[in-house]
Amino acid sequence: MKILTIVGARPQFIKASAFSRAVKSFAGVEEVIVHTGQHFDKNMSDIFFDEMEIPTPKYNLEIHSLSHGAMTGRMIEEIEKVLVIEKPDVLLVYGDTNSTLAGALAAKKMHIKVAHVEAGLRSFNMRMPEEVNRILTDRISDYLFCPTDTAVKNLTNEGYANIPCDVVRTGDVMYDAALFYAKKAEVSSTVLADLGVAKNEYVLATIHRQENTDDEHNLKNIVSALNEINARVRVVIPLHPRTRKILEQQGVTPEFTIIDPVGYIDMVQLTANAKLVMTDSGGLQKEAFFFQKNCVTMREQTEWIELVENGFNVTTGAVKEKILEGFNTMLNKQNDFSVNLYGTGNASAEIVEHLLRR
Ligand code: UD1
Ligand code: UDP
Repeated sequence: MKILTIVGARPQFIKASAFSRAVKSFAGVEEVIVHTGQHFDKNMSDIFFDEMEIPTPKYNLEIHSLSHGAMTGRMIEEIEKVLVIEKPDVLLVYGDTNSTLAGALAAKKMHIKVAHVEAGLRSFNMRMPEEVNRILTDRISDYLFCPTDTAVKNLTNEGYANIPCDVVRTGDVMYDAALFYAKKAEVSSTVLADLGVAKNEYVLATIHRQENTDDEHNLKNIVSALNEINARVRVVIPLHPRTRKILEQQGVTPEFTIIDPVGYIDMVQLTANAKLVMTDSGGLQKEAFFFQKNCVTMREQTEWIELVENGFNVTTGAVKEKILEGFNTMLNKQNDFSVNLYGTGNASAEIVEHLLRR
């Protein structure tokens, strides 16, 4: 079986690290990786391939920094050319980025089976580019690998029982990755010493979501709230280039600690030792849970609703008072993290096994 996997953005490299490692343990399965080029800075892309032993992509399409339409369109065109050459049995995509949708569309029109890892997630906010990407990708996928029960339920509610496709609850490949790298991080990361922060004495935050960065009012609220929090507990932010560019354009100099994006091993170390996580990232909300940290999500909705239902996470939107309230509620809240929400850490192998049975 030949799988052609599309990656392009940071969270997909992390998912690929788990899945591609699992693929290697199956005889008779070949994987060809295509990097669309969507993320391209060294510490947004190469660092993950180097640190996490992800196989080198056979193709890098170098498509980035374009509007949604231009980026997605050019990706479809170039992926189609690769599919003509490679003729895979299955095209596999992760998540909800423009690279995801482009890969799925290119393959489906060529009658190549599409596998969607992280299927069924919904924020129910159609203004998010990710919501559009994931709904369309789900609808044209042949194999929908769902990380959670909620994701399966979402698809059931949308009538997927009447659509010819396989909906499979596998657990979350990000959990596979977190388990694998947690031990390595403890041994090899020096990030806490480099930053001069002590365990459990800082808040780890990230901000990159378009609805927060591209709305001046929202970004101002978030920066202002984090400045206030920083006066109480040091706030450390590995900053996405999207957000850095916009803060620079606006001439805003936050009071909290901004660092360049870090590799996954340092990120795991930062998450595992934080007092609290505050973020608008999808992946980091779950990693907070994996490392038994409370999380404040600076968005109106989350796709990881089970975290909110179980009291591990609160959503605050980009409203300053709500962010401060979320911080106050979650800083010292004691939670029992023993509930199993994201599988057993074996999602990647389950996906390969399902594809082999197809
Ligand atoms: C994308 C995904 C988002 C995901 C995020 C993960 C879409 C629609 N969005 O958002 O779902 O959560 O990746 O991080 O696909 N940039 C750099 N260097 C880089 C990468 C990006 O400077 O290495 C700049 C780009 O030039 C652009 C901006 O950041 O100006 C946004 O990049 P883009 O890939 O369009 O979207 P993300 O915000 O990264
Ligand atoms: N991450 C990282 N370095 C950073 C910031 C994030 O390795 O400086 C990891 C994070 O641990 C998670 C993934 O990147 O595994 C999440 O990616 P991001 O927040 O960019 O995208 P999202 O998950 O929101 O789509």
